[in-house]
Amino acid sequence: MKLESKQQNLKDLNTFKLNSFTDYFFVVRNFEDLKFITSTLGDYKDIFILGGGSNVILPECIESLVIKVNFSGIRMISDFGNDVLIEAYAGEFWHNFVIHCLNMGWYGLENLAFIPGTVGAAPVQNIGAYGIEFSNYCYSIIAWDLLKGEIVEILARECFFAYRNSIFKQKTYKNFIILSVRVILSKIWNPNLEYFKINDYSTRKSLEDSKNINNLIEAIFDIRRSKLPNIKEFGNVGSFFKNPIISEESFLNALHFFPDLVFWEQRKDAYKLSAGWLIDNCGWRGKNYGSVAVYEKNALILLNQGLAKFDDVIGLAALIINDVYNKSGIKLEIEPLVYY
Ligand code: EPU
Repeated sequence: MKLESKQQNLKDLNTFKLNSFTDYFFVVRNFEDLKFITSTLGDYKDIFILGGGSNVILPECIESLVIKVNFSGIRMISDFGNDVLIEAYAGEFWHNFVIHCLNMGWYGLENLAFIPGTVGAAPVQNIGAYGIEFSNYCYSIIAWDLLKGEIVEILARECFFAYRNSIFKQKTYKNFIILSVRVILSKIWNPNLEYFKINDYSTRKSLEDSKNINNLIEAIFDIRRSKLPNIKEFGNVGSFFKNPIISEESFLNALHFFPDLVFWEQRKDAYKLSAGWLIDNCGWRGKNYGSVAVYEKNALILLNQGLAKFDDVIGLAALIINDVYNKSGIKLEIEPLVYY
């Protein structure tokens, strides 16, 4: 049996709101669906797994079979006393998962509240915010190996998590459909407030009583609202570029061009720079290209002003990358997954 060809626009399934047409689209709801996909793999040129679509730039035409995983549910697997092992299924919304954990008294993921997208997408780019990354809490990933037609458990150390990166961004792993994630959380409330202490936010006052979970969630909401555009208003994928991590030599070279460069020393011979600051200081904040713009409140973000096309997005990104390189010697990398 082959999937019936039916053209579908993925515009409402990607947060940059790009028109993207595919002939084959399949929503995976159960185990039988997974087996069906494996048995018909040979019928398609390629496959592409879509999560919440909040970290992808899609082309106008996708020739692959596009799969969306709709498994839902959150459960406790083990209770170790102070810690708990929790499983969340791929189709859950990430933010809802974070809030559910807080309501249950399972702590750790709080700084990752309000990140758009699904649970299944979280490990792919190792989502992170305010001093915390998904990898800090990950125990393992449960996935369907499309080629072998079986369920596998991939332990956190086998995922090679790094800054906005994991094995799931590599080509060899595109045959794995993430079904659920397993995280170890704590029953003891011990929020990580380092980022908020270092950065002098106006919302800091509400963090003073860090025992109050609602205050922390409200503060995160306020910070995100001031720096990130509302997806419902303008299509975007959050940070469009990674913060570059560079050697001391490149750092000194860039410092020569920009003496007041924003940076964080990582370890000996490794410096992380703020891509947003670099783009801003190269004069790109608020600039337009086709129907794509650099957000005027945060130069790290590209916005769809309504009619953006894949080529506009990639064209503007290339102009920014070239300009920043010419002015600082730093080569920026695109953060979302670009489908070519
Ligand atoms: N800055 C400017 N001009 C700009 C933008 C930023 O000068 O136009 C400066 C800021 O003033 C600040 C520095 O750049 O000194 C860094 O800004 P911020 O602390 O807001 O963090 P970020 O580097 O912009 C990163 C993540 C975000 C995450 C925040 C908070 C990346 C690429 N981005 O942003 O993640 O929420 O830190 O932890 O790592 C995402 O990945 O989609 C994302 C939103």
